[in-house]
Amino acid sequence: MALQHLIALQDVSAEQITEILKLAKTFKEVNERQVKKLPTLKGKTVANFFFENSTRTKTSFEIAAKRLSADVLNLAISTSSVAKGETLIDTIRTIEAMQIDIVVIRHGVSGVPQMLTGNISSRIINAGDGMHEHPTQGLLDMFTILDKKGRLEGLTVAIVGDIAHSRVARSNIWGLKKMGAKVRVVGPATLIPKDIEKMGVEVYHDLEKGIKDADVVNILRMQLERMKKHLFPTIREYAMLFGVNTTKLKSAKPDCLVMHPGPMNRGIEISPNVADGPQSVIEEQVTNGVAVRMAVLYLMGGGKANEIID
Ligand code: NCD
Repeated sequence: MALQHLIALQDVSAEQITEILKLAKTFKEVNERQVKKLPTLKGKTVANFFFENSTRTKTSFEIAAKRLSADVLNLAISTSSVAKGETLIDTIRTIEAMQIDIVVIRHGVSGVPQMLTGNISSRIINAGDGMHEHPTQGLLDMFTILDKKGRLEGLTVAIVGDIAHSRVARSNIWGLKKMGAKVRVVGPATLIPKDIEKMGVEVYHDLEKGIKDADVVNILRMQLERMKKHLFPTIREYAMLFGVNTTKLKSAKPDCLVMHPGPMNRGIEISPNVADGPQSVIEEQVTNGVAVRMAVLYLMGGGKANEIID
C-alpha cells in the first residue's frame, strides 16, 4: 500500500489501518535498538507546519522523520511571513518551491489539510485540523490498545470528556469502529455533538455507567480554546461529575487501560493517581506515536510494508 495523503481515518480502510499498525510494530522494535536510524527516507524532506500549539505531535513527527533519515524543516509560524499577511497557500507554495516531499500540517480550521491536497503537489499529513480529525493520534491510540490487549475487535472503548471539540475523539471513533471495537462516548450533554449516534457509538451522560466494564478508558481534556460560550457551570463541577479518579475507575474492568492523548489537566478530567497509576499507558502512547508516524512517513515516501531496509 502506498499512501498518497493522510487526512482522515474516515477515508482509511480497515485493511490499511491493519497494515500501518503492523508496520509500526516493526518500527517500534527499531526504536528499541541502540542505533535507532534507518536510511529509508534519505534525500526526502519533511516540512512541519504547526499553526497551533503542540508538544507531543510536532516533536514526534520530527523524531520519526529523522529516524528514517529524512531532512526536517520546522517552520516557526510566529516569526514567518504568515505574520505579515501572506496567505496559507502562498506560504506553503513558497516552501514547496524548495522541493519538499511531505508536509505535516496542524491548523485550527477544519478542512485545511484537505484543501491543500488540491493546491500543492507534496504529500500531506494532517496533524490535527480544528475539531475534525487527528488521524495519527487515532492510529497511535489503536496501536497502544492492540499492543496491550492483542486485539481491537470486540473491545469496549469509552471516550470520556469533551467529545464535541475533539478531533482525537473523531479519529478514534472512525478507526475503532472500522476495526470492530465498541465505542462509547461519555460526557455532559453540552459536550457531546447531537447525532453522534450516527457514527455508531453509544452515548452516556453518567461517568460510572459509561465506563462500566470498559476495556479502555480514553480521557480527553476540555478544549476551552474552542468553546465559544460556557458549556458547563464550573470546572469544579465538571471535575466532580466527569473527572476520572481511582474510585470511579473501579466501575471499568480491573485490567482496563487508561489513556489520554495529552496535554493533561491533572485534577480536572483525570486525577494524578489515575494518570500515574498501574493502568495508565499514557507515556506508552507517546512512545508508540513515534513508531506509528514512522510507519505513515515510510508509506508516504513510497516504501512497501514488506520491504523495510535494515
Ligand atoms: C490533542 C490535539 O491537539 O488534538 N493533543 C495531541 O495531539 N496529543 C488533544 C488536545 O489538545 O487536547
